Amino acid sequence: MQTISSIPEMQTRVGSLRAAGKRVALVPTMGALHDGHLSLIRLAAGRADAVMVSIFVNPTQFGPNEDFTRYPRELDADLQKCEAAGAHVVFTPGAEDIYPKGFSTFITEEAVARPLEGVSRPAHFRGVTTVVAKLFNIVRPDLAVFGQKDAQQVAVIRKMTADLHLGVEIVVGPTLRDADGMALSSRNRYLTPAQRADALSLGRALRRAKEMVAAGERRVDRLVAEATHLLAQHRRVRVIYAAIVDRDTMEPVREATPGKTLMALAAWVDEVRLIDNEPL
Ligand code: PAJ
Repeated sequence: MQTISSIPEMQTRVGSLRAAGKRVALVPTMGALHDGHLSLIRLAAGRADAVMVSIFVNPTQFGPNEDFTRYPRELDADLQKCEAAGAHVVFTPGAEDIYPKGFSTFITEEAVARPLEGVSRPAHFRGVTTVVAKLFNIVRPDLAVFGQKDAQQVAVIRKMTADLHLGVEIVVGPTLRDADGMALSSRNRYLTPAQRADALSLGRALRRAKEMVAAGERRVDRLVAEATHLLAQHRRVRVIYAAIVDRDTMEPVREATPGKTLMALAAWVDEVRLIDNEPL
């Protein structure tokens, strides 16, 4: 496995892979890798000849009061994990190369990015789409792999890719969870054991919604009421949103439709902001 931090070097490397007829996959990450990220790398390895993993803590997707400076950075451990999971190249650009002095061009998706996360984090997806478009342009992958854990991010990236004819196949890996149902996240390490115990209610509320839909419930108000009831039993949990939405547009739907809708949750667990979702 090779580690490359220079953009021109990365372009040369993928250029020669493509010239040799290799199918190239990209797995974009911000590092602090856990098994969820690694499952995406393995998924990519099963679908492409050459797997590129990018590790870049993207400053433009963090709001002014968010955790950019304290976001975990652990490159040595990450590189070992990437290699074990089957990555061929890890791309670790510097912030000064991705956003050189005077950088002034951004990509904004203006519909799917608006609801849910877009309400609390108005500039977040602009940072995500801008950096992902840059990574697509640098690497020019055949396919790129993202996690269902960030369902709205997937929908926004799909929309951007289609709207701008980027020609990258978007592949989505399922959310990896701990045995107790907690979705793996780099932010889980901020939780104390007591907070984590309360945070388990997110996964529980989603499981309950899924069971209700499997049992025939389609009414959105019933599904949301049951989920918020479960979450409200934990004093550290404050719900930001609990919504049944269309998985492509992220717009609220009138009734749950299996295969088309998902339940999306965001909550504060004390001062840690968590999101989770489950296709219904
Ligand atoms: P990051 O939070 O590091 O996540 C990288 C990828 O891992 C994303 O596609 C995310 O959805 C996926 N992921 C996270 N937790 C997961 C889990 N438990 N199971 C499966 N996949 C999981 O998302 C980002 O970085 C950034 O926004 C990025 C796309 C890299 C742009 O900066």
